[in-house]
Amino acid sequence: MAGRRDKVQSIRGSRIVVAIVIGVLVGCVFAFLFPHGFFSSNPPIQNRRTIKSNYQSGSSCESPERVNMLKSDIASLTDRNVELKKQVRKLTEKLRLAEQGKDHAQKQVMVLGDQHKVGPMGTVKGLRTNPTVIPDESVNPRLAKILEEVAVGKELIVALANSNVKSMLEVWFTNIKKAGIINYLVVALDDPIAEFCKTNDVPVYKRDPDVGIDSIARTGVYLRNPFDYLYRDSDVESMTDGHNNMTAYGYNDVFDEPSMGWARYAHTMRIWVYNSGFFYIRPTIPSIELLDRVADRLSKEKAWDQAVFNEELFFPSHPGYTGLHASKRTMDYYLFMNSKVLFKTVRRDDKLKKLKPVIIHVNYHPDKLPRMQAIVEYHVNGKQDALDAFPDGSEW
Ligand SMILES: *[C@@H]1O[C@H](CO)[C@@H](O)[C@H](O)[C@H]1NC(C)=O
Repeated sequence: MAGRRDKVQSIRGSRIVVAIVIGVLVGCVFAFLFPHGFFSSNPPIQNRRTIKSNYQSGSSCESPERVNMLKSDIASLTDRNVELKKQVRKLTEKLRLAEQGKDHAQKQVMVLGDQHKVGPMGTVKGLRTNPTVIPDESVNPRLAKILEEVAVGKELIVALANSNVKSMLEVWFTNIKKAGIINYLVVALDDPIAEFCKTNDVPVYKRDPDVGIDSIARTGVYLRNPFDYLYRDSDVESMTDGHNNMTAYGYNDVFDEPSMGWARYAHTMRIWVYNSGFFYIRPTIPSIELLDRVADRLSKEKAWDQAVFNEELFFPSHPGYTGLHASKRTMDYYLFMNSKVLFKTVRRDDKLKKLKPVIIHVNYHPDKLPRMQAIVEYHVNGKQDALDAFPDGSEW
């Protein structure tokens, strides 16, 4: 766990505090910046038809007033269409969530209901999907109101930003809009960024000023809607820093101590850390406890937030310590791709190159903005050689 890249120690717990409050209210993806998608808003066909029939029923030679009227008709129809599209998306999302929720609820009843016998061998299943908490709007009524407007199925993407990352934020929301994602929120850490969001019609919450934050550099490009690729069966669903099946999903790492003779091999279990720059949490007690623990530790010690996040999530209870009992799931590292996977493996592999990830998170490279822009060029604008100029890693 080298102390590289995303390390932003001065952030302390403040980011996590926002996360806790939001966690108390809804489930969400936390991303500390991102972009894109392929859902371009074509002028809806229905509009064209309406326009055509208007034209046919009107006089053949249009007066300027008539033309203006038609123009304003088009504008209002386009608005209505955008609104309809949003509603359809919301409904589709709700339906999918309802189906997933039904399945989880059945398992909860099975496990939490009456005491029962264990069942035949090979069929025993514990509970990963914890019940959700009751939202408490009184924690922060101003934020609760915003969340109610923005969230879809009580879920949203949250990104924190200040003026230092303005250009990355712009790449982020431009692409998130293109990806057809509507439930996202920027937590603005200073006034200029709040203004910038408002000007660009980006939902924003201006956090009350407290702890100073120097920079946020958690940077991803959104290519599809992440909510379509979540399992929602665990308290925490996170991107990994791993780069293959072993490092991402866990493996047996043998430690060799020859002086022990017969017992020279000690088996250890390893997994590359979760990337705290992009994770999804369900609004459950263990999720909120995780954030609470992380915030508490970061307020007391100078530590790397990502390291603390992982330690709290994974270390078991032991003498003098009670571990967290949160269920976790590692996201597919080809769908939720870190920049090492992209630049070391994927761009060199003809088959993998054709994958369309959900997001690409530029966590392994300090030259974040140019790499993000190149990713947009490659995946969004189809420029085949856009990634070629970059070295695999940073060259110090
Ligand atoms: C990696 O894991 C995935 C999913 O578990 C599996 O489908 C794939 O075959 C594995 N790849 C290798 C190289 O083992």
